[in-house]
Amino acid sequence: MLTGALLTLLCPIATLAAYAPHGRSSEPLVNRADGGQTCTVQSGGSNSTDDSASFRDAAKQCANGGQLVFKQGVDYYFNTPVNATLNNVNIQLNGNIHLPQNITYVQGIVNGSTGGNVWWINLTGDNLNFTGTNNLSTGWVHDVEGYGQQWWDANPKNGSGIASRPHLWRFNVTNSYLKNIKIRKPIAWVTTLNGKNIDVENVFIDASTTPNGGFPFNTDGFDVAAKNVRINDFTIFNGDDAVTINNGGENVTVTNGFIGGPGCHGTSIGSLGQAQGVYQTVRNIWFENIKVHGCVYGSRIKTYLGGQGIVQNVTFANYDVSNTTFPIYLTQNYFNQGSAQTQNGAGVQEGGNFGGRVDNSSVLIDDVTYKDWIGDINTYHPGDGSCVTDPCWYNVPGADGTQAIVIGCSNSTACSNFEFQNIQVIPQSYADTKINCTNLDQGSNPNLGIVCTNGTLIST
Ligand SMILES: *[C@@H]1O[C@H](CO)[C@@H](O)[C@H](O)[C@H]1NC(C)=O
Ligand SMILES: *[C@@H]1O[C@H](CO)[C@@H](O)[C@H](O)[C@H]1NC(C)=O
Ligand SMILES: *[C@@H]1O[C@H](CO)[C@@H](O)[C@H](O)[C@H]1NC(C)=O
Ligand SMILES: *[C@@H]1O[C@H](CO)[C@@H](O)[C@H](O)[C@H]1NC(C)=O
Ligand SMILES: *[C@@H]1O[C@H](CO)[C@@H](O)[C@H](O)[C@H]1NC(C)=O
Ligand SMILES: *[C@@H]1O[C@H](CO)[C@@H](O)[C@H](O)[C@H]1NC(C)=O
Ligand SMILES: *[C@@H]1O[C@H](CO)[C@@H](O)[C@H](O)[C@H]1NC(C)=O
Ligand SMILES: *[C@@H]1O[C@H](CO)[C@@H](O)[C@H](O)[C@H]1NC(C)=O
Ligand SMILES: *[C@@H]1O[C@H](CO)[C@@H](O)[C@H](O)[C@H]1NC(C)=O
Ligand SMILES: *[C@@H]1O[C@H](CO)[C@@H](O)[C@H](O)[C@H]1NC(C)=O
Ligand SMILES: *[C@@H]1O[C@H](CO)[C@@H](O)[C@H](O)[C@H]1NC(C)=O
Ligand SMILES: *[C@@H]1O[C@H](CO)[C@@H](O)[C@H](O)[C@H]1NC(C)=O
Repeated sequence: MLTGALLTLLCPIATLAAYAPHGRSSEPLVNRADGGQTCTVQSGGSNSTDDSASFRDAAKQCANGGQLVFKQGVDYYFNTPVNATLNNVNIQLNGNIHLPQNITYVQGIVNGSTGGNVWWINLTGDNLNFTGTNNLSTGWVHDVEGYGQQWWDANPKNGSGIASRPHLWRFNVTNSYLKNIKIRKPIAWVTTLNGKNIDVENVFIDASTTPNGGFPFNTDGFDVAAKNVRINDFTIFNGDDAVTINNGGENVTVTNGFIGGPGCHGTSIGSLGQAQGVYQTVRNIWFENIKVHGCVYGSRIKTYLGGQGIVQNVTFANYDVSNTTFPIYLTQNYFNQGSAQTQNGAGVQEGGNFGGRVDNSSVLIDDVTYKDWIGDINTYHPGDGSCVTDPCWYNVPGADGTQAIVIGCSNSTACSNFEFQNIQVIPQSYADTKINCTNLDQGSNPNLGIVCTNGTLIST
């Protein structure tokens, strides 16, 4: 067993001095016990000291093997972003991690970064587990006191999120488990997954705004660009995709989720094909047992006009939607609200490409099944508070709150082998369920199961 004194000898003095919280310089920042198996992250106790430094220290000590422990009930102030590479390590989050409250300060860090993109917590490694706690009074990231709300409220009228927001965290890991994750009021994008063989279990993300508060733009729950991933058992309230599968996503299973709003955009694939020269792929994706309440979309596939690549083998099974504006939605003419560079100005549903984007290719979409959907369509108050353009970015001309399915494929072969089975989603008015469908050609889709039409949903 290593003693504190021995640890002090092992620690570079300069490092200690630089990172020491005021008035606590003699206290070791890292305690190692169990033969070097446990590294405890020390806290300075307030945001006037940067606990990111203690984390970096602990991560250095426990980079290979062991436990990295955040103490029960303790608040940690991560004033600066952290990168850590940890192999064969379990991060045990028993305390709370806070990001800084000062917006300008955080924006300064994002602006000063290469590429203007910061993941505040950036973890890399093999067999790197992250384990939170089931105790609801502790183990939160990052905004127990609701700092994210300030960012949403600071968004100006007709803005789609203020500039220079950081992502919360990235796990670029292999053979790893993330368990018991609790996030409240993130600034924006929550979790990016890269790597391979990742098991995510028991997640709670609350990015819902306070009544009359600003819209929580870009508060994606999971952006998945990893392979062999399982995300199971989650509750996400947010203002964007709860889970979306991005380029490189393969063999991803997403099960047993509740997604709520207001402002949520459900489960998604993409967007893909934004960079026109880059071939992008998403394959073998399975969503099952998903409840969607008050979202703009239940499931959405979004690809850019003139993109390249393929989305293949996707299933959306057993969805229970309520008060959802467009339960099943697909566009091959996606555009990003507020992004002039890629703005088409109009999607397929809006009648074409008015934005001048070169229209010479599509990301192909093959083998997509929607089965066992029940619920109701938001007939009377469609959409959400994210609309800052006119027409609104999610507008579908002529839609009247009765469309369960909106599919806009760019030509007769771009979408193939689609199947719809047992879609029982009805308008809140009990009018006939409608569909808005372009180019789900019978020849390319022999087992379609419905009639691709602009009108009443007819199952075949
Ligand atoms: C994290 O790593 C990236 C890439 O190496 C680097 O640009 C960035 O400065 C690092 N951030 C920190 C806080 O060390
Ligand atoms: C994350 O950390 C890894 C390893 O330290 C580094 O290579 C990578 O560039 C970092 N990424 C970001 C976005 O900082
Ligand atoms: C990570 O969790 C898995 C599953 O519980 C376990 O098999 C593995 O040993 C854990 N790894 C570490 C480093 O704790
Ligand atoms: C530190 O916390 C105080 C309140 O506890 C807050 O006013 C201040 O903005 C915080 N500073 C940073 C950098 O987050
Ligand atoms: C917030 O951060 C900015 C930039 O670092 C700084 O100029 C300002 O004084 C800080 N505000 C507070 C209240 O600490
Ligand atoms: C993830 O880590 C792998 C291996 O370290 C690296 O090759 C890859 O570029 C990283 N991906 C991202 C998105 O940082
Ligand atoms: C994904 O699953 C398929 C089918 O089971 C398998 O052939 C493929 O190797 C898997 N991909 C990866 C990256 O493991
Ligand atoms: C399609 O995806 C499912 C679930 O992700 C997987 O089980 C199946 O093997 C995939 N099919 C092919 C042909 O790869
Ligand atoms: C549906 O959601 C809208 C907000 O988009 C809300 O105004 C309305 O009350 C909700 N209706 C029901 C039946 O929950
Ligand atoms: C449809 O779009 C795909 C992808 O861009 C293209 O390869 C194909 O030739 C187009 N088919 C028709 C009939 O225009
Ligand atoms: C359906 O889609 C077409 C464009 O593909 C559009 O012109 C039409 O107005 C849409 N609306 C309805 C309600 O069908
Ligand atoms: C739906 O309407 C649009 C525009 O009016 C048209 O392009 C499309 O072919 C129609 N779809 C069907 C299946 O008739």
